[in-house]
Amino acid sequence: MTDFSQQETAPGSVSILVCISCRAKDNANDRPGPAFSDLLRKRLTERHLAIPVEEIECFAVCKRPITVAFAARNKWTYLLGDLDADRHIDELIDAAFRYGASDNGLVPWKERPECFKKGVLSRTPPLSSL
Ligand code: FES
Repeated sequence: MTDFSQQETAPGSVSILVCISCRAKDNANDRPGPAFSDLLRKRLTERHLAIPVEEIECFAVCKRPITVAFAARNKWTYLLGDLDADRHIDELIDAAFRYGASDNGLVPWKERPECFKKGVLSRTPPLSSL
């Protein structure tokens, strides 16, 4: 975990979108997204980081729970999967901070936490570049 407590992300530079509909791989009756979203908000508060978290119904990558996206105006959108609340919350926050600090959403590989290296399912260019 990186200590970003002396810094703040600019509002609007990154939003974290969490799918709350995915079913757990090992238990179809379990939907881990809402608890992940709650824990993410709690850790962001504890770390004094102003990054908005939004809950989404489905990203259409339902076999890769937990799925999350980083999005912001005029930035690439990243979709990440295979996230686990016990292992990835702080890594994901670190990754979101890096994304938020970038000009266009593209974060150099060497600056990415592990979940932002292994978990990327897609990236989509900003509409302004089309
Ligand atoms: S239900 Fe989560 S991506 Fe489809």
